[in-house]
Amino acid sequence: MASKAIAGGGQVLNVSNPEVVRVRQLIGGTAEYSSDGWKRCWEEGVTPWDLGQPTPAVVDLVNSGTLPGGDRDGRATTVLVPGCGAGHDVVALSGAGRFVVGLDISEAAIHKARQRAAAAAADGNSFDFVAADFFTWEPPDKFDIIFDYTFFCALEPSMRPAWAKRIADLLKQDGELITLMYLAEGQEAGPPFNTAVVDYEEVLNPLGFVMNSIQDNEVAVQSRKGMEKMARWKRMANPTSLNSAGETQID
Ligand SMILES: C[S@@+](CC[C@H](N)C(=O)[O-])C[C@H]1O[C@@H](n2cnc3c(N)ncnc32)[C@H](O)[C@@H]1O
Repeated sequence: MASKAIAGGGQVLNVSNPEVVRVRQLIGGTAEYSSDGWKRCWEEGVTPWDLGQPTPAVVDLVNSGTLPGGDRDGRATTVLVPGCGAGHDVVALSGAGRFVVGLDISEAAIHKARQRAAAAAADGNSFDFVAADFFTWEPPDKFDIIFDYTFFCALEPSMRPAWAKRIADLLKQDGELITLMYLAEGQEAGPPFNTAVVDYEEVLNPLGFVMNSIQDNEVAVQSRKGMEKMARWKRMANPTSLNSAGETQID
């Protein structure tokens, strides 16, 4: 299938791209969740979302020094990247005392990720890749950080509450959720599905997550410029101070 890649700029993720049309055929784009569809995308090599490199915002995040790392009581800071695909961001996030787990439902994606990451692994970076379903996977320990990029927007919108519940289950109580939000608009189907910042708030606030910061992604690749924001979330110790609408109450 012809690629619509722009060098370093990513593919256009809308119906004008035949690869996006094929993804939607395979996945269904309906409330019927298709894990088989994702697997077939990887098996057919139809992965228009794959930048072939870490997203520049992740590299900036690592270089910013604001990302926790280093030993925590003698152990590494643990990071989960759900829906990691070919694992570029997993490798970029690793090191500096962070151990990163890349999770994807597709065995083919994980195989590719392991192959691509072999050189970094040989350099001593610390990461692992797991082929499993985010919605049912049970790791031995919770994570200090979860980083989501193009996973939330890839899920059919009715699955967003379940996504948030799993984030809450998999993150330590004092852990941090980082969402690099791909804010697709005007899509008649998905993935990627139409996504707004409020869509995250609607499912995360009731679980006690509060957005501590949000900023435009100034370093988005060409095809995603002006469409991305990075938000960092922490969970309140006592979510009972939320009102019934899931909004924080100031006492
Ligand atoms: C749009 S792609 C994004 C991949 C990667 N984050 C990137 O930016 O290149 C979404 C990924 O989520 C994976 N995925 C979909 N449903 C999943 C699930 N239930 N559990 C784990 N991974 C899943 C797909 O196989 C796919 O690799």
